[in-house]
Amino acid sequence: MTEPGKAPRYDRIGVGYAQHRRADPRIAQQIHSALGAGASVANVGAGSGSYEPTDRTVISIEPSAVMAAQRARSAPAVRGFAHALPLHDDGVDAAMSVLSLHHWDDHTKDGVLEMRRVASGPVVIVTFDAAISGQMWLVADYMPELRELDDQIFPRPELIAEWLGSARIDVIPVARDCEDKMLGAFWAHPEWVLDPEIRQVTSGFARQSAETVARVEQAVRADLASGAWDARYGELRALQQLDVGLRLIVGN
Ligand SMILES: C[S@@+](CC[C@H](N)C(=O)[O-])C[C@H]1O[C@@H](n2cnc3c(N)ncnc32)[C@H](O)[C@@H]1O
Repeated sequence: MTEPGKAPRYDRIGVGYAQHRRADPRIAQQIHSALGAGASVANVGAGSGSYEPTDRTVISIEPSAVMAAQRARSAPAVRGFAHALPLHDDGVDAAMSVLSLHHWDDHTKDGVLEMRRVASGPVVIVTFDAAISGQMWLVADYMPELRELDDQIFPRPELIAEWLGSARIDVIPVARDCEDKMLGAFWAHPEWVLDPEIRQVTSGFARQSAETVARVEQAVRADLASGAWDARYGELRALQQLDVGLRLIVGN
């Protein structure tokens, strides 16, 4: 969220987003099939346009000018916030939001209820279950600060489902070659921790202090060089996908 007089958070942390945070086709497929066959969809916290379907009308809502400017392959976004969607009741067939609601601060429930209000059909939300994502090696063993933050900002998927009234919760497995370099995709790529550009486009890193980021980078660098990382987590190198807590919530 953005306090009055302050720039949206993603005006600061969204620089270079579109280069590394491209839609992964397998995740897109899961989202699109959950959206159903309706002719229109609202995308809330739409960012650079990742995961937007191309076969129907999309109304994209995005507060950050830095993110909206990266919509080179998508139609322009409306500047707006989740908790006050500029749409009529049942104004669209479906609503979607991908990895955005943990930035809605005090308005998370309001935003979910707004999505329910404006969509006559499915409400599709992609989010992390912090109890699972917090078990990933990067968070559990190197960056416990992120577990603390995530526990505060990610509502439990079951709670989001409750807000929606009736909803199912599906696992979205994250593939080794996931094209969207979200923090959950780091499970297979410890070397990404050493790349400041890739780190910066994950809010998990971008919201930490410079000291924390430097400490995590040094520790991962040392453990990769010494072989300690492979000794501890080497079996991950053989996996093609993993449940790192990414969840698809579909309200009907
Ligand atoms: C991690 S990005 C995800 C962008 C896009 N959905 C994607 O999957 O690539 C989070 C987005 O949520 C937006 N956002 C932050 N606060 C918001 C709010 N209160 N209402 C709507 N969107 C918000 C940010 O500006 C940012 O574009």
